[in-house]
Amino acid sequence: MFISFDEWINQRKITSWGTNFGTSQIAFQGWRHFKEAYVPELIERAINESRIPVTSCLDPFGGSGTTALACQFLGVHPSTIEVNPYLADLIEAKLSTYNIHSLVDDFGFVIKTSYEDIPNVEEYINYLPPTFVEPGINNRWIFNLGVANRIYAIISAIKKINNPINARLFKVLLGGILVEVSNTVVNGKGRRY
Ligand SMILES: C[S@@+](CC[C@H](N)C(=O)[O-])C[C@H]1O[C@@H](n2cnc3c(N)ncnc32)[C@H](O)[C@@H]1O
Repeated sequence: MFISFDEWINQRKITSWGTNFGTSQIAFQGWRHFKEAYVPELIERAINESRIPVTSCLDPFGGSGTTALACQFLGVHPSTIEVNPYLADLIEAKLSTYNIHSLVDDFGFVIKTSYEDIPNVEEYINYLPPTFVEPGINNRWIFNLGVANRIYAIISAIKKINNPINARLFKVLLGGILVEVSNTVVNGKGRRY
């Protein structure tokens, strides 16, 4: 299914060109809210007002991928650099095209396999920093053991999928919920636990 740039932004009319005005209401920010995300209309305006025809666009600081995604919707070829590997995967996952039947099949496979093929905790726990999983150090840890085991079982199941595009999307979606299932608190100073 193809949707236009206007459909993507929900035909909204912005009242400010502030760089992150209202982006939290656009569907793609629901995947993983990114505070610094740009207003897609800013990209549209830059492309439309350029004196030379824009056919490709390089964004060296990709973030949540607004520039690349807006460009793709506007028929401009995007190239993006992002130093954070999670965000780099998030951008690629947003730019990818999916076959819905294959996605549903692979999702079912991940859920089923993650409950049937329970990996051995010892496989991963010794390789992690000691505060990652309870008992942690001085009662401080990021994930309790049950949650850590489920995460590892899901990651192991995702690794068994043959379709790398689907696998990347599932990895990104899992990454998007990790803060909520951890002891981590996000505040103005960063992340604490
Ligand atoms: C403010 S965000 C960009 C937001 C983006 N325009 C959007 O709409 O989502 C800046 C991004 O640049 C990335 N970054 C910072 N230094 C970098 C570097 N040296 N190379 C690549 N990416 C870098 C950061 O990880 C961050 O995600």
